[in-house]
Amino acid sequence: MYLLSHFSTNLCVVQILFVLLWCIQSLEYANAATPTVKVGNISKVGDSAYFRIYYGQTFKVIKNTLDGKSYLLIQNNTRMASRTKYCTSRIKSFVIPLANYSIETDYFFPVSFFELLGLLGNLKGITSTYVASQCVLKLYQGGQVESINKTDHQQLAQYAAHFIANTDEAQPCNFATFVPIGEDAPLQRAEWIKYLGVFANMENRANQVYDAIKENYLCLSKAATSRNSLKPVVSWMEYKDGVWSFTRDPYKLKFVEDAGGVNVDDSINKVTYNMSNPDDLEEIHAILCTVDVVIDETYSSDPAVYNGSTFLGNINLEDQTCFAFLTNQSIWRYDKRVQNSVVLDWYDGAVSQPQLVLSDIIEALYPTGNYNTTYFRNIAKGEGIISIGPEMCERDSSIPMEPTVVACQ
Ligand SMILES: *[C@@H]1O[C@H](CO)[C@@H](O)[C@H](O)[C@H]1NC(C)=O
Ligand SMILES: *[C@@H]1O[C@H](CO)[C@@H](O)[C@H](O)[C@H]1NC(C)=O
Ligand SMILES: *[C@@H]1O[C@H](CO)[C@@H](O)[C@H](O)[C@H]1NC(C)=O
Ligand SMILES: *[C@@H]1O[C@H](CO)[C@@H](O)[C@H](O)[C@H]1NC(C)=O
Ligand SMILES: *[C@@H]1O[C@H](CO)[C@@H](O)[C@H](O)[C@H]1NC(C)=O
Ligand SMILES: *[C@@H]1O[C@H](CO)[C@@H](O)[C@H](O)[C@H]1NC(C)=O
Ligand SMILES: *[C@@H]1O[C@H](CO)[C@@H](O)[C@H](O)[C@H]1NC(C)=O
Ligand SMILES: *[C@@H]1O[C@H](CO)[C@@H](O)[C@H](O)[C@H]1NC(C)=O
Repeated sequence: MYLLSHFSTNLCVVQILFVLLWCIQSLEYANAATPTVKVGNISKVGDSAYFRIYYGQTFKVIKNTLDGKSYLLIQNNTRMASRTKYCTSRIKSFVIPLANYSIETDYFFPVSFFELLGLLGNLKGITSTYVASQCVLKLYQGGQVESINKTDHQQLAQYAAHFIANTDEAQPCNFATFVPIGEDAPLQRAEWIKYLGVFANMENRANQVYDAIKENYLCLSKAATSRNSLKPVVSWMEYKDGVWSFTRDPYKLKFVEDAGGVNVDDSINKVTYNMSNPDDLEEIHAILCTVDVVIDETYSSDPAVYNGSTFLGNINLEDQTCFAFLTNQSIWRYDKRVQNSVVLDWYDGAVSQPQLVLSDIIEALYPTGNYNTTYFRNIAKGEGIISIGPEMCERDSSIPMEPTVVACQ
């Protein structure tokens, strides 16, 4: 008992639940009352830090440390499915495979994970058209996916699961959080496909997609980081209310390292620069003199009109001679693919397929001139945006989307 007090209550509850479930199952097997359900194909989490999957005979448990919940997933053809229902602040149960689901799309939900699994056929509702997927837009336009009023809880309750990307919300019983963006590295984010695979008994597909993405990512990275040339210096930076800052999200810095570049951030300690302060201005210009590639993350309400001139105006450059990113024309933004000027595919497809992002950054760092980037555009060369619309969906949405494998020796 003394030892038990060292465990978090959460862990404790989950363990007790496990024991109970095993007992119930053993009894059921002993009675031969339930058709035997074989343990299906399983997914093992190897890279992600914030979720784990456990397998029983007729159920699975996902432990999500970002929302602090355990998801008990019960196979639909077992007796437990009709008898067991949990909805506490720590444990929720779902009957799987999910008969249908809806998504809260208001906060850049990465629907591409569902597309890679081939699950768009079961998507029945979205809370807004803030989606970057052309095929979800097409399903919506065609009426297969309906629009839901997210404040109407009765309407939300009709779906077997309602996926959300925001852990702060009050959560009715059928809500499940999906938060790959909580991870610190690109592959860790992509491995969350296994989290969704578990809800659909699609472990095999999830494993296969992740393996393909990881293998391609590591191959591209190995080739880029083993070059003998001097590593280009990259800065991720953004401008807001008169102030420039270098952004330091770990997964972004990791992309640069994996692409064979170095981050400017390692060498500086001041993070923000007020453009109305002459000292700050001089300092940031000095730093930028060491930078080869700029990634300008500045928010724009209309990415279509954000171009090289906008950047130069914000950074207030007069004498341009010392800036390598200007002489070499290398100023990039990740808003190349955008829907209705607001929804960037950077928060969707780029999360599930990091090998494409890596490949874009490698092209930015070591230009070949014959690779078309997916998410990044070079505003120093006047490259514009691609506006995503339903007419761009050329796939049959019921068929899984294949991950794009980039040529790698
Ligand atoms: C495991 O996956 C394979 C290939 O997708 C499939 O043929 C097999 O039936 C699956 N096994 C179970 C127990 O689901
Ligand atoms: C369980 O799910 C499968 C796959 O969706 C479905 O074919 C089957 O009818 C369901 N069984 C029950 C008992 O609901
Ligand atoms: C959404 O549902 C809420 C609560 O049921 C209701 O008050 C509101 O009018 C609905 N909004 C729309 C746009 O239908
Ligand atoms: C979703 O599936 C549930 C069964 O889990 C069913 O009762 C409900 O009618 C379905 N809803 C829609 C919108 O298809
Ligand atoms: C930037 O500096 C100006 C002048 O000193 C000041 O008025 C302004 O509030 C500063 N901006 C921020 C965001 O600190
Ligand atoms: C950027 O857009 C503005 C306004 O549309 C235009 O005047 C300017 O020439 C453009 N700059 C570049 C570098 O294309
Ligand atoms: C500019 O790009 C060329 C080729 O793309 C490269 O050889 C050169 O080192 C770059 N110069 C700077 C200052 O980054
Ligand atoms: C890049 O895209 C353009 C326009 O779609 C196309 O003409 C060109 O062949 C593509 N280049 C490569 C290397 O794929």
